[in-house]
Amino acid sequence: MVIRNIQPADHAPIIASVDAWWGGRPMAGMLPQLFFAHFCDTSFVAQEDEKLIGFLIGFLSQSQPDEAYCHFIGADPAHRRSGLGRSLYESFFRVAAKHQRYVVHAVTSPLNRGSIAFHQRLGFTVVPGTAEHEGTSVHPGYDGPGQDRVLFSRTNRK
Ligand SMILES: CC(C)(COP(=O)(O)OP(=O)(O)OC[C@H]1O[C@@H](n2cnc3c(N)ncnc32)[C@H](O)[C@@H]1OP(=O)(O)O)[C@@H](O)C(=O)NCCC(=O)NCCS
Repeated sequence: MVIRNIQPADHAPIIASVDAWWGGRPMAGMLPQLFFAHFCDTSFVAQEDEKLIGFLIGFLSQSQPDEAYCHFIGADPAHRRSGLGRSLYESFFRVAAKHQRYVVHAVTSPLNRGSIAFHQRLGFTVVPGTAEHEGTSVHPGYDGPGQDRVLFSRTNRK
């Protein structure tokens, strides 16, 4: 497996796969080309035998000088639970640390129990919200009406 920086040509194969990778949820609309054109230094793809098997879209916060944010991470279901997601995040943590970004944030749906468990295994903690879903603290309406989210934060210091 090889991990490299993302490039504009990765947009088409990724949007063709993401809905299936998310179990049929319509996700492609959350991945416009702009992420592949303007966030290349902090976003990554994983490839095996030329096939794209995972990706992470991340960026350095424009507003918080010591923070970075992961917008999206996904792994091909055929390649899960073998360290792929962790390797993608490690690439992101490294580039974030290089830019003195000592806190990394991410957000997920309270229904996405796999993502919650994954982020916690990687050392993220849940930022307390005002509600709870299946034992996890949640920020109700964080992304708009009915769009509750679990917020994660992780220190990015050695
Ligand atoms: C979340 C996702 C990226 C994880 O990728 P992955 O390659 O399977 O993750 P890894 O193999 O690197 O796992 C890292 C750790 O998290 C744990 N983990 C991963 N998925 C898990 C799950 N569904 N439930 C419990 N633990 C999980 C692993 O056991 C591992 O723990 P360990 O290192 O202590 O052994 C992948 O499941 C995915 O693409 N899901 C659909 C998209 C999604 O929900 N993305 C996140 C929101 S943007």
